[in-house]
Amino acid sequence: MRVLVTGGMGYIGSHTCIALHDAGITPVIYDNLSNASAQVLDQLEKITGTRFEFILGDIQDEQQFKLALKHTKAEAVFHFAALKAVGESTEQPLRYYQNNVSGTLSMLQSMQEADVNHIIFSSSATVYGEPDYLPIDEKHPIRATNPYGWTKVMVEQAMQDVCNANSQFMGIALRYFNPVGAHPSGLLGESPNGIPNNLMPFIAQTAVGKREVVNIFGDDYDTEDGTGMRDYIHVLDLAKGHVAAFMQHKTDTAFHAYNLGTGQSYSVLDMIKAFSASANKDIPYKSAPRRAGDIACNYADATKAKNTLNWHAELTLSDMTNDTWRWQTNYPRGLES
Ligand code: NAD
Ligand code: UD1
Repeated sequence: MRVLVTGGMGYIGSHTCIALHDAGITPVIYDNLSNASAQVLDQLEKITGTRFEFILGDIQDEQQFKLALKHTKAEAVFHFAALKAVGESTEQPLRYYQNNVSGTLSMLQSMQEADVNHIIFSSSATVYGEPDYLPIDEKHPIRATNPYGWTKVMVEQAMQDVCNANSQFMGIALRYFNPVGAHPSGLLGESPNGIPNNLMPFIAQTAVGKREVVNIFGDDYDTEDGTGMRDYIHVLDLAKGHVAAFMQHKTDTAFHAYNLGTGQSYSVLDMIKAFSASANKDIPYKSAPRRAGDIACNYADATKAKNTLNWHAELTLSDMTNDTWRWQTNYPRGLES
């Protein structure tokens, strides 16, 4: 079986291509390379022994996307392509709505015309906003606090409405908590452009000497050590979650949403300590003001995925930090752009 993977050259999409391949499903990558290196294909080949088919294309190009669906005879779409920087989305909201929302609406249109009725979408725990309760289950109210978050809410709603209107259609929204880690081979990982916004890449770049010090955004939260707590999940576990969700629902219709998290949260200090152990060195850090829009703590109730998909996260915090460190030391400047 062949599936089209939008954004398959990116961080989570590329790891999911490996998991699909391992499950006997052939991924065909569709990506505009706006935030990825063409070298990812070589890395995927080194890891899997297979050269994946790659189509250079934009999801906003409805005609090209429809042709890609037909040409590849894809039976489903795994949809990772999106812009993902929260801060940037508040400065350039229209770019985010255009790329993430309009782009996905074009895709859904092309899919219906090409009679491809299954989509697995990268959503985010950001759709829960500031949590009303912990752990967060899928029944938690949906809302957003920034344009990036709204793009995820809007796409989920559009998918749900298409599923209601078209009895053949199946949509799965996977709400990721905090994806971290890298492929254990050290050949593939996350390499953000510029100064990383997210904690793990910032710690990794500090450990390798690219940044001077980790700023801890707030040490007076109501948490065990005062720093923010999150549910970090290894990208390999996340990738397997996609395969599990697809296998469970591939002959199904309707809309389904699942949290993909570990159910456990770690503080910023926990993360720095774990990374120090992996890198076998002290990592400098200092207190800094809280970051606007941050919450004290969140973590997933991933029971629905466990019971329905027979999936749960297996990798540990030290797997996350060891694998990130291996990738960071192998490719301190990321892959060639
Ligand atoms: P990424 O930037 O590494 O990957 C996204 C890929 O999509 C890139 O390869 C980029 O070139 C491509 N792309 C972007 N716009 C495109 C377009 N219009 N047409 C074709 N290709 C396009 O990001 P990632 O971290 O792998 O995230 C993948 C998905 O998961 C995104 O939808 C993101 O919003 C979501 N997500 C990510 C996180 C996270 O922390 N990384 C958390 C929650 C949800
Ligand atoms: C952020 C996004 C969220 C997105 C997610 C993707 C914001 C407000 N939220 O979530 O929408 O889905 O990334 O993974 O941008 N921290 C530091 N120092 C740093 C960086 C982070 O102390 O240099 C702290 C943060 O305050 C937070 C924790 O580390 O407590 C995790 O931060 P981060 O990795 O940015 O993820 P989120 O804020 O959870």
